[in-house]
Amino acid sequence: MSPSPSPWTPIHFKLNGRAARLDADPAMPLLWALRDRLQLRGTKPGCLQGACGACTVHLDGAPARACQLPLSAVAGRAVTTIEGLDTSLRTRLEAGWTAHQALQCGYCQPGQAMTCAALLAAPEPPSPAALEAALAGHLCRCGTGPRVVKAAQAALAAAPRSAR
Ligand code: FES
Ligand code: FES
Repeated sequence: MSPSPSPWTPIHFKLNGRAARLDADPAMPLLWALRDRLQLRGTKPGCLQGACGACTVHLDGAPARACQLPLSAVAGRAVTTIEGLDTSLRTRLEAGWTAHQALQCGYCQPGQAMTCAALLAAPEPPSPAALEAALAGHLCRCGTGPRVVKAAQAALAAAPRSAR
């Protein structure tokens, strides 16, 4: 028996640099589309209310909370998840996170890293204070906040010379 056709109009967008298409309810939060439909589980569910930052991805390069984004809002736009993060940015973040031992259970960390990465990739690098302010919007049950700020500032300081 052939499968019944999807009742949904396909939603097209770019995901981690590649064309993506989903036949899904346009009201479905991007968070669940990524995790349950696309098997990208690096983006974490936390509060589901836009308050904790665990689900942070990039939408057209800016940090966005995937639990608050309906699929319809990403049509024609570019979504990047922790799995698709640029390699040089990832290397800088990993070095900072390792140097400052910023990981505990790790649950909140993909979201924190995505916020940090978006700021580091901006045409104008942020000030250390701006970076700290952006990360203040993330909750960590393990209490790593101060270490994450130091790790992010180390990643900022490690910017390639041409980007300073
Ligand atoms: S799960 Fe999205 S902000 Fe908390
Ligand atoms: S490292 Fe455990 S919640 Fe942040």
